[in-house]
Amino acid sequence: MSFQHPADSPATTSFGTLTTGNGNPVQNNQTSITAGPQGQVLIQDFHLIDKLAHFDRERIPERVVHAKGAGAHGYFEVTNDISHLTCAKFLNKVGKRTPIFARFSTVGGEMGSADTARDPRGFAVKFYTEEGNWDMVGNNTPVFFIRDPIKFPDFIHTQKRNPQSHLPSSDMFWDFLSLVPESIHQVTILMSDRGITKDYRHMNGYSGHTLALVAADGSYKFVKWHFKTKQGVECLHAKEAAIIAGSDPNYATRDLFDSIEKGDYPAWDVYVQVVEPEQVDKLGFDLFDITKVLPHADFPLIPVGQMVLNRNPENYFAEVEQSAFSPSHMVPGIAPTTDRMLQGRLFSYPDTHRHRLGPNYLQIPINAPISGINNHQRDGLMTINGNSGSKPNYEPNSFGGPYQSNIVGTVIPIGMPVSGNIGNYTYQLTDADFKQAAALYNIFDDAHKDRLAGNIADGLSGAKVFIQKRQLDIFYKVDKDYGVRVERELRTRGSKI
Ligand code: HEM
Repeated sequence: MSFQHPADSPATTSFGTLTTGNGNPVQNNQTSITAGPQGQVLIQDFHLIDKLAHFDRERIPERVVHAKGAGAHGYFEVTNDISHLTCAKFLNKVGKRTPIFARFSTVGGEMGSADTARDPRGFAVKFYTEEGNWDMVGNNTPVFFIRDPIKFPDFIHTQKRNPQSHLPSSDMFWDFLSLVPESIHQVTILMSDRGITKDYRHMNGYSGHTLALVAADGSYKFVKWHFKTKQGVECLHAKEAAIIAGSDPNYATRDLFDSIEKGDYPAWDVYVQVVEPEQVDKLGFDLFDITKVLPHADFPLIPVGQMVLNRNPENYFAEVEQSAFSPSHMVPGIAPTTDRMLQGRLFSYPDTHRHRLGPNYLQIPINAPISGINNHQRDGLMTINGNSGSKPNYEPNSFGGPYQSNIVGTVIPIGMPVSGNIGNYTYQLTDADFKQAAALYNIFDDAHKDRLAGNIADGLSGAKVFIQKRQLDIFYKVDKDYGVRVERELRTRGSKI
């Protein structure tokens, strides 16, 4: 018997005849083939078996961090000439537009977690340039908790679930932070009124790391990237965030999608802060330490362009879930620096992509460069781009295969000096590690300082007393008043410190 659409919801568009994965017309999508009216289901029912088998394999591993996110397409447009700083072709002319895809995310939560968590937000942008893709993989905060990649897996474990109880744990979270005092700058941002962004449109994005821009003559300068929201920064207080988490956990995802759907396109102004190589040793802190910001007074924002998001994905899984950003996806004219965390990330992202999406993740349409791929890589799981046909698969060769560009300024060395012997050089904690947190604390007004202390105490009071004490020492070290307020709030919550 043929299947009819329910009369009360007639289809407005016809997508044609249903087919199996291999394109055969499906005769019946409502009833399995059985041996007689009461008999078993038959193995010859390819459509049934293929449907169930495909469903059984629908989930791929979620991102180990930044699992919950939303994305959109748009463009980047150059508004100010910085071609004296970089040979990157997508930046070489005012008015030039480059297609982009952006993904925003929370960090610690799983795929189904609430959008309004107190957590930094990921801010990842893929630029599909004429020289391949550049991924700017930043956050909505300009600093980070740690400054050595070897600490990252441990740090992330403390944000996830306790291995026994499977519950978030204040002990794990605050134990780690109190033993890693360089986290205090980021902790102060996270617990302040800036700690819960309202949604993805009302937040800034930062590279965090210091990257390099390389000019055509091979000279380089150091830069930090800033994406300033044109919608204005808006954040939520803890109580508002908790209410929204209960009533609409997909609040930020919905906001981004609906805004774009109704033509209200979010936009960001893009800037760089520029540091001359000669200035690096005179800053009073390590430029390549991601727990530090560059003061705007000394290093003003130089405009570069604007980014606009004006098209929603057609399919979430294909475009957002399968998108794979990496700080190591760079174009000539943008280069990495000695920042240790950045160096660790250059490895970690493509590694996780090969695990999450397979060795040919760069062939998936959302990740494939529009400028094309022309190399000697071949074969592997899910080769879907024709595998370069009959072209030579080795170099050097005498048959016209692709050859190297010799363009200066890409990931190859750009003459940055290094010195010393190989070793495990531990970052020593210095006063500079508390200064920027103190400066930030002291721009907050009285009421804000109280809310900051209250937010900290809400979480910290759930940790063991010895952990509370150790973390409290860090607040006192930043500023006595900071310590006093947190101590008071802890006592109000019954702490026995
Ligand atoms: C996602 C590792 C630090 C921003 C990820 C993922 C990994 C990872 C494995 C999942 C990627 C995927 O499955 O596609 C690391 C390591 C770090 C580090 C090892 C330190 C050594 C940072 C920092 C920032 C950052 C400092 C920001 C400045 C992001 C963003 C995403 C992400 C935005 C989500 C990208 C997307 O939307 O797909 N990170 N991360 N990470 N990370 Fe990191």
